[in-house]
Amino acid sequence: MKAAVLRSVGDENLELTDDVELDAVGPNDVEVRITHTGICHSDVSVMNGTIPQEAPLVLGHEGAGVVTAVGEGVTKVAEGDHVIVGWSPHCGECIYCVNHKRPNLCTTLNFGVMLRKKFLSGGERLGAMVGAGTFAERTLLPEPAVIKIDKDIPLEVASLVSCGVMTGVGAVINTAKVEPGSSVIVFGVGGVGVSAIQGCRLAGASAIVAVDRNPAKLEVAKRFGATMSVLPEEVRDLRKQFNSGEGFDYALECIGNPKTMRAAFSAVRRGGTCCIVGVGGLDEKVEFNAFEFFWMEKTLVGSFFGSCDVRCDFHRVLTLWRAGRLDLEGMIDRRLRLEDVNEGLEAVRAGEVVRQVIEL
Ligand code: APR
Ligand code: ZN
Repeated sequence: MKAAVLRSVGDENLELTDDVELDAVGPNDVEVRITHTGICHSDVSVMNGTIPQEAPLVLGHEGAGVVTAVGEGVTKVAEGDHVIVGWSPHCGECIYCVNHKRPNLCTTLNFGVMLRKKFLSGGERLGAMVGAGTFAERTLLPEPAVIKIDKDIPLEVASLVSCGVMTGVGAVINTAKVEPGSSVIVFGVGGVGVSAIQGCRLAGASAIVAVDRNPAKLEVAKRFGATMSVLPEEVRDLRKQFNSGEGFDYALECIGNPKTMRAAFSAVRRGGTCCIVGVGGLDEKVEFNAFEFFWMEKTLVGSFFGSCDVRCDFHRVLTLWRAGRLDLEGMIDRRLRLEDVNEGLEAVRAGEVVRQVIEL
């Protein structure tokens, strides 16, 4: 089958190959024919080493498709079901799943079965990005990593929910818990930022300010509900317009850059909340002075996969989409073949797109 493979961390391009084989279906496995997969900035971040992963691997993690086979221990899905890939599956038994009710933080499967090298190409075994590997015609996932959806939902729309949309909407609703009437600033107008903007609209924010260095993105942000959109250098003055000059109630950083993380923290008022959604590198630092935590009493919170529980939150997002409250089709600005994946990755690096979907 066809797949796009990252040979080594640091490579600018993926290798396209059609000789990839997939392991046999194990007792707890679900084999999925991927029909659609989005290109997310995290794919680029695995390529450049920001998100550490061992290569060679099949890239891609935001996907949806059709179940083609299941192991004998699988009970929740069957052949022919339509599913969304959940790249951060829960085990249901660890302290995060049970004691803290935070299944998104469970690492049992991500550090376990998701690490297996399930693809074979030219005699070499290949891993899969975060255990998903959706830049392939088929992949193998443990049962908790597939979420069944209704068959009338276009799989193209469903694929977006698999990562970017859930991450952005979830950060607003589950992590930051944006309140009606509040003012929010969102840094980054990619797939995650646009989802955060839409999440703020759903949460009833009165002001949603979008920030992006690409001027073309400022109009895009307004299309999805931003009430204002500005370039990064305009933020410092603009914050004076909110809360009698004190700043925003909430900031969401959806880029993954230490500079914009710091700018997001500075943009909120005393007692406000700064939520970091973007993924920066292990060696990158954000500076705070030791006085400001006491004086400003701000909440600084990270958000991992929108603090979601895929079992209910994927459906919650799709219900909002059905009700016309979330525009998912409008986020797709390009449809590509797998052969064009490197062109797609380049457009992500350039910050030109909201979402591109590969049709397999
Ligand atoms: N200042 C302002 N805007 C910036 C800057 C910057 N320094 N750097 C990038 N941007 C803008 C880009 O122009 C682009 O519009 O941020 C946006 C990022 O969008 P995408 O590349 O599409 O990223 P996305 O897939 O939305 O992911 C954002 O969330 O899940 C994480 O790993 C992901 O860190 C990434 C972040
Ligand atoms: Zn992603």
